[in-house]
Amino acid sequence: MKITILQSGQESFQVKSINSEMKSIDSITELRKQLNHWRQAGLRIALVPTMGNLHAGHLSLIEKARKLAEKVVVSIFVNPTQFVEGEDYESYPRTPEEDRKKLEALDVDILFQPRVHEIYPVDLSHQTKVIVPHLDNIFCGESRPGHFAGVATVVTKLLNIVQPDFAIFGEKDYQQLQVIRQLVRDLCMTVEVVSMPTLREASGLAMSSRNAYLTDQDREKAATLYRVLNEMAEVIRGGGDNYQELEKAGLKILTDEGFKPDYLAVVDAETLGPPGEGDLAILVAAWIGRARLIDNVIIRR
Ligand code: PAJ
Repeated sequence: MKITILQSGQESFQVKSINSEMKSIDSITELRKQLNHWRQAGLRIALVPTMGNLHAGHLSLIEKARKLAEKVVVSIFVNPTQFVEGEDYESYPRTPEEDRKKLEALDVDILFQPRVHEIYPVDLSHQTKVIVPHLDNIFCGESRPGHFAGVATVVTKLLNIVQPDFAIFGEKDYQQLQVIRQLVRDLCMTVEVVSMPTLREASGLAMSSRNAYLTDQDREKAATLYRVLNEMAEVIRGGGDNYQELEKAGLKILTDEGFKPDYLAVVDAETLGPPGEGDLAILVAAWIGRARLIDNVIIRR
């Protein structure tokens, strides 16, 4: 990537970027140097944080970033602190070559791919943590204790490192999105958090790196998750408000299909607390085979 600054008149200048090649950077210092040049030139920066193994869902966030800002940074970092003891940190799918090609094709300006030591140079027991109270210990936070502290901490670090104008996240990880929105508000960050809808397979199954854990048979069954969410949403849109009965009925369908549901709940879409008059979210997490799948449907009203 090369930037040429062309003088075009006395008081203003035009910046033209010749986007020949994506820069791959693994050091915070080097990344900041590059970003400072762009910021001084008045270019806006969008960040898309990921853990790699990129699929069309990730790519839709990057396309949005391209539309919002002149410069796009994608981070790939499989963040150890958001994996709970016994989870799939070691086996989490890592596909650096394929990811790089996809990012180049999308005209990404910087791929930030730090090593663990770059992000966590001190012993993890001495690392400052960002905790978003309440939201971090319900639903996925209850089943995965410490997970959201890991997410909130790494996202805070990435936002502080890049200081982007925009950061793009998927609605697929709905609780994560709410955690991030709250930390940005609470810590007075200036970044604009932008969310994008969930991209799905033709069957309705939400795209996820963890779908790689599904056998063909599980993959077929997995589509039931979204079907159940939609059926519940339809009842609610039709005026149904016996949420507990709905949850019970949904859980029964999932269990009968062979899922091990973790939770299925109708909640207020913003607080994730009991449903009120505002928008609703139906959140689900369930195991099928080796995969723990999450999904949601939002009901706007
Ligand atoms: P990862 O699972 O790689 O997801 C990166 C981003 O892609 C997240 O914002 C996620 O919500 C979004 N995403 C995933 N599947 C999607 C789909 N089917 N449709 C649309 N968007 C989708 O989420 C993480 O990484 C990490 O927790 C991270 C935020 C990077 C912090 O480590």
